[in-house]
Amino acid sequence: MSSGVGWTPIAEEAERAARVLHPDENFMPRPTRRRVMTVANQKGGVGKTTSAVNLAAGLALHGVRTLVIDLDPQGNASTALDVDHRSGTPSVYEMLIGEVSVVEATQVSAQSPNLLCVPATIDLAGAEIELVSMASRESRLKEALSKEALDELGVDYVFIDCPPSLGLLTVNALVAAHEVLIPIQCEYYALEGLGQLLSNIELVQRHLNQALSVSTILLTMYDGRTKLADQVTQEVRNHFGDVVLKTIIPRSVKVSEAPGYGQTILAYDPGSRGAMSYVDAARELAERGVSRERR
Ligand SMILES: Nc1ncnc2c1ncn2[C@@H]1O[C@H](COP(=O)(O)OP(=O)(O)OP(=O)(O)O)[C@@H](O)[C@H]1O
Ligand SMILES: [Mg+2]
Repeated sequence: MSSGVGWTPIAEEAERAARVLHPDENFMPRPTRRRVMTVANQKGGVGKTTSAVNLAAGLALHGVRTLVIDLDPQGNASTALDVDHRSGTPSVYEMLIGEVSVVEATQVSAQSPNLLCVPATIDLAGAEIELVSMASRESRLKEALSKEALDELGVDYVFIDCPPSLGLLTVNALVAAHEVLIPIQCEYYALEGLGQLLSNIELVQRHLNQALSVSTILLTMYDGRTKLADQVTQEVRNHFGDVVLKTIIPRSVKVSEAPGYGQTILAYDPGSRGAMSYVDAARELAERGVSRERR
């Protein structure tokens, strides 16, 4: 194990990397039922995309087939997974307007054959307005993510990466999912706007999707040097209890560098603390998925 006496830091890191990259005996459990999770927080830059792609990569590298749907015109998830998202590529936009199926829009990431992505192109930028006049404008994503189509892709997890707003794209994501995963940054003002997000989720529950629940909160960008980070952590745990994952994602430069190379942190620096923490969070998520079913 990595804590063995006599290990140098480099040997420890190599050992951790080997565990991340060759998880032969470390398979994560598949959920009994497919989990569709919307990653939402209308606050910008809290780690939605980073969490969606790295949790997905963590599951995929441990044998769990996972689809990331990039529902943000910024296309950050598509960049991190290095899938083609030039204008005109079959993408989530064409899916929403009914031109292509999710199967046709899905690409396989080079990082793992179990890691799939529906990209977002710049064409999605106008969708929020175009959708307004369309029939069943709130449930177009749900219709595109039919059971049959997701069965054909063979995915156990679907993460929907939302833009930083509560507009129609995010509403589509909330209608299409069973679960909401909220990343919260361990910083000042972290909880600001959360009330608004929760009341929007309640509205969707009441009128459009009774099955929806906030199942998971992930604390991100934790900086152990600040007292504030601990205060935010404590406040979130007091308020949300077990919904908050035990694993906290540390602030790490490596995590922020990875997308610049079209990689998740697991591919970019598998021995890093950032990679290990996303693997731990993915494992927690996977284990909860199973115990939830057994309850
Ligand atoms: N644990 C971390 N340590 C350091 N930097 C991080 C970490 N997580 C995310 N970042 C960086 O912080 C920035 C915001 O993260 P990210 O893009 O995941 O947030 P987001 O909520 O998806 O943003 P947006 O609201 O714009 O979609 C990015 O530059 C990302 O690389
Ligand atoms: Mg994002």
